[in-house]
Amino acid sequence: MAVTREQAEEAADKVPGSSLSARLYDPFLWFAEKTGFSRWRKRIVGQVSGSVLELGAGTGLNLDHYPEGLERLVLVEPDVHKARILAGKADAKGIDAEIVRAPGEMLPFEDDSFDTVVETLVLCTVADPEATAAEIRRVLKPGGQFLFMEHVRSEKPRLGRLQDRLERPWMKLADGCHCNRRTVPMLEANGFDVDVTAAQDKFPMPPVARPIVSGIAHLAPAGSSG
Ligand SMILES: C[S@@+](CC[C@H](N)C(=O)[O-])C[C@H]1O[C@@H](n2cnc3c(N)ncnc32)[C@H](O)[C@@H]1O
Repeated sequence: MAVTREQAEEAADKVPGSSLSARLYDPFLWFAEKTGFSRWRKRIVGQVSGSVLELGAGTGLNLDHYPEGLERLVLVEPDVHKARILAGKADAKGIDAEIVRAPGEMLPFEDDSFDTVVETLVLCTVADPEATAAEIRRVLKPGGQFLFMEHVRSEKPRLGRLQDRLERPWMKLADGCHCNRRTVPMLEANGFDVDVTAAQDKFPMPPVARPIVSGIAHLAPAGSSG
């Protein structure tokens, strides 16, 4: 069941964030954007259609890539500082979007509201990935698509173990981001059929934040998930 906008905002207030990290976010990603991220964002965000929900939209690095003519565009961002930057950019670019402060675990939208849910680099950070996956399922219309780009735990044993060891310090450095999440299996265990369409080991990101994967997921038929 959907929470109210007020309940969602109250929950969003508890999500970590600061004015400084919001202001440093774009400069921190500048080189990665120039050398790959922006291209990946374009490919992923360019596939959205109909009524669209972006989760954890951050400072709006996906804004340039939305196709025109969407039925509805809702940008969810819990952190008040990033949400302000996001709103300013959307305004400046003349993008007609609703900006809503909410955590992915508590979305103030009715069941079956969206044709597309999209997120980039968010399931690594949410406090409860399973609850977020459940909310994505709930708000997606039957036949809807979930598009994502995430960095995930490496399948290379040495790097995977290093990511496990560095999880806590990395979280401190990167605003609560977990560098060792097994996001694709998590989605599959939570009711999605996932097609990983791209995986890349060589992004100019610290090795603990690699590989990057992107893909498309659909709701699995009832009874087929864990
Ligand atoms: C690494 S940033 C990614 C921002 C943006 N999606 C991008 O690709 O640049 C992680 C984002 O997730 C947001 N976030 C943190 N906890 C969240 C939660 N529980 N639900 C939704 N978003 C969350 C953060 O505020 C931040 O904007």
